[in-house]
Amino acid sequence: MNTSLFKEICSTYATGVTVITSKDSTNKDYGFTANSFTSVSIDPLLVLFCLNKKAKSNIALKKDSFFNVNILSDNQKDICFQFANNKLSQTDRFNNVETIESKNKIKIISNSCSFLECKIKEIISAGDHYIYLGEYLSGEINKSKLDPLIYHEGKIL
Ligand SMILES: Cc1cc2nc3c(=O)[nH]c(=O)nc-3n(C[C@H](O)[C@H](O)[C@H](O)COP(=O)(O)O)c2cc1C
Repeated sequence: MNTSLFKEICSTYATGVTVITSKDSTNKDYGFTANSFTSVSIDPLLVLFCLNKKAKSNIALKKDSFFNVNILSDNQKDICFQFANNKLSQTDRFNNVETIESKNKIKIISNSCSFLECKIKEIISAGDHYIYLGEYLSGEINKSKLDPLIYHEGKIL
């Protein structure tokens, strides 16, 4: 089995970059960078993202809990790296990041291209990752129509 070829092939697929925000049962804010976000279904409206089983953020993602998908713009490279840095505490990841709260009290990152508010419908175990299937509740597109951050061949463009 050639894992590195698999990874290399997958990396030729360009994606956008998101930060998934959520809250744990003590109301502590969580966030991590994810490029595995995708829309899934129109009827009903469903999205998904995949998260490594070892990631700390799994604590803040339970069935029927809420999460936001913040779709990053091309001027949010620093935010992409800050939320991917597992040496930073969850609190420190939000340092110098402008946010507001959504209806569900989950943080929305300001100046992103758009955001979606979702509720976890199903958590599927898939190898070393969990697939989180979320129901879309509401969302908004930034009125400034910003260009997206792109992830391609391991580089943030
Ligand atoms: C561009 C980019 C995309 C990423 N996408 C994912 C992803 O989809 N799933 C995942 O498990 N980790 C992904 N990561 C890595 C996580 O952001 C990183 O491991 C993070 O520290 C996890 O946080 P936690 O352990 O505090 O939950 C990505 C990192 C980068 C830079």
